[in-house]
Amino acid sequence: MKLRTMTIACAFALAAPLAAIAGDDEPVDIRNLFTGDDRVQQSDLANMSRDEIRLAGMRMFTNPFRVADGFGDGDDANPTGIQTERGSLQNNTTFQRIGGLDGQTCLECHSIISRRTVPMTFGIGGVGGVNNTVLGAGGNTFVDLTTPNKKENIDGRVINPPFIFGAGGIEHLANEMTEELQQQLHAAQAAGDGTYPLSAKGVDFGSLTIAGGVIDASGVEGIANVTPGDEDFLVVQPFGRKGNEKSTRTFDVGALSFHFGMAVDHGNDHDGDGVVNEVFDGELSALSVFVGTAQTPFQTKVKGKAKRGERLLNSMGCTECHIPKMDTDSKLLGFRFPEIGNEPFANVHTTVDLTEAPMSFEENDNGGVTIELFADLKRHYMGESLEEFNGDGMFTTMRLWGVADTAPYLHDGRALTIRDAIVMHGGVPNARTNATAITDDGSEAFGAVSNFLAAGEADQKAVLAFLDTLRSPDGTFDALLELASKVSDDDDDDDDE
Ligand code: HEC
Ligand code: HEC
Repeated sequence: MKLRTMTIACAFALAAPLAAIAGDDEPVDIRNLFTGDDRVQQSDLANMSRDEIRLAGMRMFTNPFRVADGFGDGDDANPTGIQTERGSLQNNTTFQRIGGLDGQTCLECHSIISRRTVPMTFGIGGVGGVNNTVLGAGGNTFVDLTTPNKKENIDGRVINPPFIFGAGGIEHLANEMTEELQQQLHAAQAAGDGTYPLSAKGVDFGSLTIAGGVIDASGVEGIANVTPGDEDFLVVQPFGRKGNEKSTRTFDVGALSFHFGMAVDHGNDHDGDGVVNEVFDGELSALSVFVGTAQTPFQTKVKGKAKRGERLLNSMGCTECHIPKMDTDSKLLGFRFPEIGNEPFANVHTTVDLTEAPMSFEENDNGGVTIELFADLKRHYMGESLEEFNGDGMFTTMRLWGVADTAPYLHDGRALTIRDAIVMHGGVPNARTNATAITDDGSEAFGAVSNFLAAGEADQKAVLAFLDTLRSPDGTFDALLELASKVSDDDDDDDDE
């Protein structure tokens, strides 16, 4: 049995935090969750089963970090630029709220599985409510409430937490798309001067021009990095509302640093708080495997009105961006370290089969998987109304899988219902969406949303009925919790012997 292969140190590490979740009466001593021998090094991964790695990742996701672990920043400006010295409220030295230091665990912002139930359903890895909305990422000097209803009244971003479900399939799809674009780049370079179309999995990413041997990327569309020569040039980056993070790992590095001041510092005290090795590479690997092996959203039976809604979604033009499904060529997702942006299959440390539970993606005829994401992994301009403080209105197409459960909607959670979300990303600035017409504010979705509004109430309801079939998974990580309780039982047995 898999569990017997665990080292004692590892068994202890996992027993303490998870016993409580598994319903054990023993109170958990949070001081022991993230200390000493229990911590995971990159070299430990080779001796751990996939589920042991996932459990270690779940501990990272649910562990409340403390100051002794490296929570928070020190007094010195950070030399690496990962996170500079931040203030705190009332000089409490731990929480700031605007500009990060805004949580103690990943779980507290990623915890709502469904808003559709009463009361709402909680679980590991879900979305955050309005209360979890992050303020001031990218700027942190002021919030000016005396000039209301202006996007400039906060010097920073306002972002609502999405769920982590299906992340492994998305990472894998993005890796294959990146590979395709990199091949097109190399072919273009080999062919010399000219203009070359770019596309991946049938999604159009504009074109590349080479003149006098020099790459001109001004025709590239929908990709965050358009700087030739950069490692992330022409890399599909599906994560983050702005589509600017290539993998769950790169995302997690930023999340740990921004929310908690926990840095992967390789023995250097990057944030000057007197704690070194706040996060090990191995812990980050485990965390990315945990996030990348979360459950997959699913769809309930599409019938009647919803069936008509499905056709309307297509005829209105919604599916030009919200592409219902895409296929991968392989079903094996490789988690990488170190990651090389333009080599998406290099340095794999852990491989998972995406058709296995709990991801359970459907295998396709190519031997890959079908990902029913309702998105194109491409960035679009969403109009002046949705622009952020700095005038940036580019957002990655939000995946609509799970959408029935994940209110509030849009990047900052401004839309409290799905209908509001649809109308507001076509060209109205705020929640007054009873309006039957929108203004063209440059949003690429203006045409489709105009079609939606022009269609009338019955057709709109049919579209909403279809979107209501797109559900979040239950998100309880049952198998992991069961494993954790077994680890905990084994651990007790060891003690008794
Ligand atoms: C204070 C709230 C908060 C905390 C704490 C938090 N997150 Fe998030 N998370 C967010 C927000 C907001 C976003 C959207 C960020 C963006 O668009 O750039 C997000 C996005 C993500 C995404 C990308 C999802 C996607 O599909 O684009 C991942 C993965 C993620 N978080 C993992 C984590 C992990 C791991 C931790 C703990 C280390 C964590 N988060 C802690 C608020 C939070
Ligand atoms: C040009 C591309 C494009 C078109 C066309 C488009 N959308 Fe979107 N959609 C987006 C983007 C980008 C977002 C994310 C906006 C944000 O983060 O603020 C989004 C977000 C959404 C959301 C909110 C999801 C969430 O979880 O926050 C819904 C619902 C939605 N779209 C439905 C539709 C429907 C229905 C149509 C057709 C009437 C449509 N979209 C047409 C690009 C598009």
